[in-house]
Amino acid sequence: MTDRFCVFGNPVAHSKSPRIHAEFARLTGQDMRYEARLAARDDFAVSLASFFSAGGKGCNITVPFKEEAWRLAAVRSRRAEKAGAVNTLLQGKDGRLYGDNTDGIGLVRDLQLNAAYALKDRRVLVLGAGGAVRGILSPLLAEHTKSVVVVNRTVEKARQLAHMFQAEGTIRSSDFAGLTGETFDLVINGTSASLQGELPPVPAGVLAADALAYDMMYGAKPTVFLQWAAEHGAATRDGLGMLVEQAAEAFFIWRQVRPPTDSVLALQRAELVKN
Ligand code: ATR
Repeated sequence: MTDRFCVFGNPVAHSKSPRIHAEFARLTGQDMRYEARLAARDDFAVSLASFFSAGGKGCNITVPFKEEAWRLAAVRSRRAEKAGAVNTLLQGKDGRLYGDNTDGIGLVRDLQLNAAYALKDRRVLVLGAGGAVRGILSPLLAEHTKSVVVVNRTVEKARQLAHMFQAEGTIRSSDFAGLTGETFDLVINGTSASLQGELPPVPAGVLAADALAYDMMYGAKPTVFLQWAAEHGAATRDGLGMLVEQAAEAFFIWRQVRPPTDSVLALQRAELVKN
């Protein structure tokens, strides 16, 4: 019988996950179906329960349900525990819901595999201190970065995150003004500023001579942040590869098969530019 998977979100119609997983299934010969499911904001737990009781095998969770999915998971992976959010659920043979978070490893894989960018010994600046950033800090530090600085408009949130992950590597917080005079090899934009076409107030001097600027957001055109970084001589990369890699890790969790991602990323890029 065809195994059923889905992504829950609100809104969810825009989600690229059904296309990505359909491609993964085709490329690996897996008999599965994957659809987008809209859950009412106050009805996620019920929607989730009815999906699994009707035989669903696993699902992805996107905005705004990742924290609720974290609470609903009976068992959580270490990385999900640290992220405080779950983007992948699997119903185990024992009937319990296993929660994982593949966003951070998706970022790391996109950098290392798709962009051939080694994270070891890099000085990393992370812009933002919301849920998206919380999900990437542990996987970044696990790659033995030289240092990670978390900078946020509301500096207290950056301070809390740096404190939360201090046992995992060299990490500290800063406000934007405090960055003046420092340089970084990798600058990751984890704020939601790109969604509003805004640029976080980061001084251009933070970009080292051969810096890479990475925006966890993506769009048909480079984000304001990536345009700014390119104008200041940095290499740039958007978050489309992270999206595909987090999906590949979820697919692996469900199917125990690792799908190829390069052709899927190329297809997503082509569709993004076309639309
Ligand atoms: P997410 O789950 O996507 O991380 P979030 O938890 O709402 O969403 O966090 C959004 C992040 O983007 C925060 O770090 C926010 O900064 P504040 O904590 O100071 O609000 C940051 N952000 C949003 N718009 C921004 C802007 N125009 N400039 C700088 N930072 C911005």
